[in-house]
Amino acid sequence: MASTPNASSWFDQARFIPPDAIFALTAKYVADTFPQKVNLGQGTYRDANGQPWVLPSVNKAREQLLANGLNHEYLPILGLADFRNATAKLVLGSDLYSQRQSQVATCQSLSGTGSLHLAGLLLRACHGQPKVYIPSPTWSNHHQVFGSLGFPCESFKYYDPETRDLDVESYYSMLDNAEPNSIVIIHACAHNPTGCDPSKEQWKEIARRMKERQLFPLFDSAYLGFNSGNLDEDAYPIRLFIGEMEMEAGVCVSFAKNMGLYGNDDPKSPTPPGFGAKIASQVLGSEELKQMWYADMVTMSDRIRSMRKALYDHLIALETPGTWDHLIRQSGMFGFLGLSPEVVVKLREQYHVYMADNSRVSIAGLNEGNVEYVARSIAEVLKGELRS
Ligand SMILES: Cc1ncc(COP(=O)(O)O)c(C=O)c1O
Repeated sequence: MASTPNASSWFDQARFIPPDAIFALTAKYVADTFPQKVNLGQGTYRDANGQPWVLPSVNKAREQLLANGLNHEYLPILGLADFRNATAKLVLGSDLYSQRQSQVATCQSLSGTGSLHLAGLLLRACHGQPKVYIPSPTWSNHHQVFGSLGFPCESFKYYDPETRDLDVESYYSMLDNAEPNSIVIIHACAHNPTGCDPSKEQWKEIARRMKERQLFPLFDSAYLGFNSGNLDEDAYPIRLFIGEMEMEAGVCVSFAKNMGLYGNDDPKSPTPPGFGAKIASQVLGSEELKQMWYADMVTMSDRIRSMRKALYDHLIALETPGTWDHLIRQSGMFGFLGLSPEVVVKLREQYHVYMADNSRVSIAGLNEGNVEYVARSIAEVLKGELRS
């Protein structure tokens, strides 16, 4: 679309939406010529050499698809049926899926973000515009997606910077005082950005209070299996709410992280794009590929966990000021270091270590070759702060 200089434009009233800060940070990192630079900003998995990783299971699925003669016909409006059914079975587990199959409705979307948007459209069509309760902090797109659909969004305190842990009492108190028939956005696991998830006991309490208050759980499930390496473990709260508690729920699933399918083919048609769905469907439909994929998720989550531990060990060995237990309590790709914005700027400008301004780091950016450098940089900046 083009606009005419100096004339009034259709787009004059368009609201300015600032670009995502993480993409701007990545651009700065790319432009940095320092050889030891480290990017802990962007949330994409990196292997032990800091490179993108094509999962062996995904590679094999792609080879099989190509060997079988892949076509690019339109998919049905709801998406690839095998993919939708296999995803529902994966998320619910075989037993719950077979009990509830007739009550499950699925629709393919453009990854996790697209599914949140579609879920919002559906809930709006069914229920007008109820309140949407969103944890604070959260993944920034939650506010963009639900705010742009016109829902009144309300943040609730999820994280306590003092304890560097989940603030479960604030969570409970929000639930007890929430307007009935509202929506609550729930990170199914690996809370982004804090890396702090409720325990099983706390999940039970959250579910009980939500049911009592007639709140609708909308699960954002972008890290199933990627968090602990065990998909059943990571799907625990979803199965608890739907199975044991017999609640209705929405589940927005992404295979971006757990299958490493970050980029999408360009959808030029009004129907959903096929390639990623066909890959996921191929993996989920073959016992051999599924077992390979389970092993791939263990590879990714183990590497992330070992890097958390390595960062922690180096920080302790370097006698870095502060406490660092929170690093190993958190799980998933992200975590908060708990550094001030000034320290984050020094790390970036003096040490070429890039992270979000709130000191959220993507642990996947660490590897054997850079973790000590990162710890040393943090230790030096914090010791310098103490001296000044
Ligand atoms: C909490 C959360 N939800 C959803 C997504 C969805 O991502 P995508 O649209 O790439 O599948 C992400 C990705 O970063 C995320 O962190």
